[in-house]
Amino acid sequence: MFAKFKKNQAGETEAQAVVDSKRVPAHIAIIMDGNGRWANQRHLPRIAGHKEGMQTVKKITIAASQLGVKVLSLYAFSTENWKRPTDEVNYLMQLPVRFFQTFVPDLIKHNVRVTVMGDTTKLPAATQKAVKGAIDETSECNGMVLNFALNYGGRDEIVTAVQQVAQLVKDDQLKVEQIDESVIAEHLMTNQLGEFEDPELIIRTSGEQRVSNFMLWQLAYSEFVFMPEHWPDFTKESLENAIIEYQGRHRRFGGLEN
Ligand code: IPE
Ligand code: IPE
Ligand code: MG
Repeated sequence: MFAKFKKNQAGETEAQAVVDSKRVPAHIAIIMDGNGRWANQRHLPRIAGHKEGMQTVKKITIAASQLGVKVLSLYAFSTENWKRPTDEVNYLMQLPVRFFQTFVPDLIKHNVRVTVMGDTTKLPAATQKAVKGAIDETSECNGMVLNFALNYGGRDEIVTAVQQVAQLVKDDQLKVEQIDESVIAEHLMTNQLGEFEDPELIIRTSGEQRVSNFMLWQLAYSEFVFMPEHWPDFTKESLENAIIEYQGRHRRFGGLEN
């Protein structure tokens, strides 16, 4: 029984579900959405929402690592986000620089290793440098992996993988008949996550119920939890509630339950 007891407003004792620490999803991926709407509601420019969202990233990274999550993937910038106004794109490109400037010591303190997936070659030089710096500085950490999706698109990832596999075939290093799911997975950007490549749980904030080109291959059997709060309002309790929801699901993978 995973519950704690709490008094409700009427003063009655109520059971409240809590996270079962033995069944925390190893890989949680979050589509961090709603920064713009959060700012809009406060009559602030959209970038104020992104700034606040960065604080949420810090809090949730630490919360996830304390909960025993092995990989936390965060969708920070999609291959489609270049369509936004230049000022907003520029701000979003600066965010990793600010984030890592202030947060790398905390990441090291919490033993968190940074990885990135996405086509980082298209990012501004300063952003690439900040990302590389954070990856290098945390390379010895062996706790949770904080995996940022930056200029990431699931379709782009699959196209890149297909190109790499086709090249191997062309170079006679691989036969067409040898192409199977594991060969494809090896050429995806999540290959660096080893056994944790597929997220058990995908959370999207801000009420939108779509995938927006995130981890298209890896989500085959992921559980989805859609939450109403905008990303800047997302808390440790929100994360715990998503995990509790996940823990109440029955995963069957096409088979039958025991
Ligand atoms: C998520 O918030 C951050 C990024 C996609 C970069 P949005 O900027 O999408 O916020 P909304 O969806 O417009 O509210
Ligand atoms: C998805 O959010 C991308 C990220 C969270 C980085 P968007 O706000 O870009 O997605 P759409 O446009 O609502 O589908
Ligand atoms: Mg959005």
